[in-house]
Amino acid sequence: MCGIVGYLGSRDPKDIIIEGLSKLEYRGYDSAGVAIFNENQLVRVRAEGKLSQLKQKIQDLNLTFTGPSGIGHTRWATHGRPSEHNAHPHSSGPIMLVHNGIIENYLELKKELMGKGYQFESDTDSEVVAHLINDRWKQYGNLLTAIKKVLPELKGAFSIVVLNQENPNELVAFKDGPPLILGLGQNEYFLVSDVAASLAYTSRYIYLDDREIVRVTPEGYAVFSESGVRLSKTVTEVAWSADQVEKRGFRHYMLKEIYEQARSVAHCLEPFLDREQFRLKPMMEWSSVEGVHIVACGTSFYAGIYGQYLMEILGGIPCRVDVASEFRYRDPVLSPGTLVLAISQSGETADTLGAVRLAKAQGSPVVSICNVKQSSLDRESDVTFYMNCGPEIGVASTKAFTATLVLLNLLAMDLARYRKRLNADLEFQMLRRLLELPSQIEVVLAYDKYFQDAADALKRYRGFLFLGRHVLYPIAMEGALKLKELSYLHAEGYPAGEMKHGPLALIDEQMAVVVLAPQDDLYEKTLSNLQEVKARGAKVIAVGTLEDEQLKSLSDRYLSIPKVPWNINPILAVIPLQLMAYHLACSLGHDVDQPRNLAKSVTVE
Ligand code: M6R
Repeated sequence: MCGIVGYLGSRDPKDIIIEGLSKLEYRGYDSAGVAIFNENQLVRVRAEGKLSQLKQKIQDLNLTFTGPSGIGHTRWATHGRPSEHNAHPHSSGPIMLVHNGIIENYLELKKELMGKGYQFESDTDSEVVAHLINDRWKQYGNLLTAIKKVLPELKGAFSIVVLNQENPNELVAFKDGPPLILGLGQNEYFLVSDVAASLAYTSRYIYLDDREIVRVTPEGYAVFSESGVRLSKTVTEVAWSADQVEKRGFRHYMLKEIYEQARSVAHCLEPFLDREQFRLKPMMEWSSVEGVHIVACGTSFYAGIYGQYLMEILGGIPCRVDVASEFRYRDPVLSPGTLVLAISQSGETADTLGAVRLAKAQGSPVVSICNVKQSSLDRESDVTFYMNCGPEIGVASTKAFTATLVLLNLLAMDLARYRKRLNADLEFQMLRRLLELPSQIEVVLAYDKYFQDAADALKRYRGFLFLGRHVLYPIAMEGALKLKELSYLHAEGYPAGEMKHGPLALIDEQMAVVVLAPQDDLYEKTLSNLQEVKARGAKVIAVGTLEDEQLKSLSDRYLSIPKVPWNINPILAVIPLQLMAYHLACSLGHDVDQPRNLAKSVTVE
């Protein structure tokens, strides 16, 4: 939520900051703003709406910026509606700052500051911090000291970069919660929410920990603890390239990421394969694990439900799954021997992190599945398995989902092997099937034309139900989520067997039903459920195995996937659903990479 960029160096700060913000726009796009030095004057420009509005405004105003420093922000509104006066940077006296997160005690602080005569021009919580820093700066005459005084007073989740009109050669930043990363260039520094913002200039980064403060000047950088102790930090070399965060000729990031899935699944598998023995490399120590509790949000939560089936069917141990925001506030009972498995593409989802911290406080070991190395989740987990699928920029998660399903297969196999439920032959067969996945994904992608046609036909419906059983039930929910977040149409995912317990009442000619019915052990039962909705007048789109004539005859539209075992069906069946949601949203004229009201990385509760 919200993307921030700070720059200090000798290049044109406007170009660096605007380019950085364009890579962070996935984090929020309600408004955008910059504050950049020009001949020792700090110039602020803000605009409601997407970054393009800000760019236009800067161009229209014919502004030049000479640097050497500046800050920029792209906003996902929490406090105060999306508008120019609520857009960042916020200022107080010579202080100008950008903020990602929420200041929970802002009302209390605001009251105190108003009592001292500070006047507020926005409805945001962020402006409180600007006044507070200004207040302490007036007292101590030093920005770093002022921030050291302010940090203990702030409650909530924040990463903040501060500029001082009085000193263009200094940037000070601090965080508690949302990510803040210092990029180290050649005599230049970047303070960013995500390395994507500055990968074109450097691959060397320092990940700040909570309640740390960093000061950069042309002479260098220094990181301090809240109490002022100078810290020595590890510099991480980031393997992602600038090219990976480009669209590479695709119309949208989402489409590019859907098409990357054959490759991303292969990358995800590779580190765990012992190719000589054709075996799965040992992944983790299971001896003390008696149960697994999965926590995640959104698409990662649906992946978690799929994981639950695998852990119980293959691993033979109890497994529960929770939406992280529920888990963390219901006093969950984690029995001894419970391993908590957190799933998060970004590794920065506030609720998932909250759930992990709670589990750790109760003494549970935490293993995570995550895409972003050095993210908060990665750093706070005992063990992390990386999705290895490269940066995912589209707000709708796609390639991270399929990579997670692959990793869940590997983990369940590792557990099953430890518990002597997976003999060498079955292990060989399962691995072979996983290795075949990339080429089967290519086959499904080759049918995109049919998915686009199906999406066209869906335009006239007012509601959508997605039905599946067993491991296809979470895929039904994921298909519905993709459709609603991109098309803004109502869609629900249901276990096919639940229809007669209520949802059948929704069925009429204006309802389209997507039935996931590839051939598996429950195929006949799913077919009966399909007949029930068909008999009540629904338009049926079916996803089935190869040329399934029986299923075809019962459906208005039929989409085919290759013949694969039950555990692989979901990884292929989700692709037509991703593409249908994508095409439907495009034909409705929606911005698929930046759906309304959403942001990629949900760093607030
Ligand atoms: O980064 P995470 O995997 O923790 O994100 C979780 C959800 O916010 C995310 O999956 C969200 O539901 C996506 N917009 C779904 O496409």
